[in-house]
Amino acid sequence: MARTSIPALYEKYENGDPLTMLTAYDAPIARLVDRGGVDMVLVGDSAGDNHLGYDDTLPVTLDEALSNTAAVDRAVEEAMVVADMPFLSYGASLETSVENAGRFLKEAGADAVKLETAPRGETTIDIVSRLTELGVPVVGHIGLTPQRMRQLGGGYVQGRGDGSSATVEALVDTATRLADAGAFAIVLEAVTEATGKEVTEAVDVPTIGIGAGRYVDGQVLVVTDLLGLSEESYGFSKAYADLGSAVEEAVAAYVDDVSNGSFPASEHVFDPVDGVE
Ligand code: KIV
Repeated sequence: MARTSIPALYEKYENGDPLTMLTAYDAPIARLVDRGGVDMVLVGDSAGDNHLGYDDTLPVTLDEALSNTAAVDRAVEEAMVVADMPFLSYGASLETSVENAGRFLKEAGADAVKLETAPRGETTIDIVSRLTELGVPVVGHIGLTPQRMRQLGGGYVQGRGDGSSATVEALVDTATRLADAGAFAIVLEAVTEATGKEVTEAVDVPTIGIGAGRYVDGQVLVVTDLLGLSEESYGFSKAYADLGSAVEEAVAAYVDDVSNGSFPASEHVFDPVDGVE
């Protein structure tokens, strides 16, 4: 079966059906996320702190992102695979941005790329325009853009218009320009609910929120948060399972079984010496 296409996403969007996106960074989880029925699997640069053991997204390299994307690509059959371009793998020049974006489609099997854009970030908007012209589907990402975390000084909610928080107007303007440049969807991260609503009303492409409230066209979560595998929990997110505890309990039970000699039992043994099958 072919993977979810942009026209298929737009059919849902035009019918008013919410779109679903979840991150995945490896094949086993991507396979399950796909079977769970999401529209899009995002190979996020949140791999940095959710998969690769870094403190945040900044250290993620192009090679790591390509490798994660290729693993996800091998596992996903139905959802659209969106690859997040890591910090500074785009922006230094139009040429390297296009070449690096192309690698996600040509080498790693992604269906689209995602780029973070600062408020009124002309450089990224130009890149989105060039990529779109060349046939690379692009998802924009505005609001809290974690690749700018050092500059912002923290994970501030955006749209409040004070300190490290952009104004609603700047975010609406950026979203409009991204849509005009050809982005087929826009992720809105950690914005006030009013910002999510205003941006969604201003653009004619789907908005996909994470901590962006209820008045957006779809939702995205980080899979480790959803599965209860994260060390931290966030108010805007929701854990639908507690796999962290389940994994710890399973490992502790295994350690106990090996320690007390109950694993392996005769049923786990090839040609047991005592003859018991
Ligand atoms: O990298 C990521 O997981 C993301 C989501 C938070 C949207 O960009």
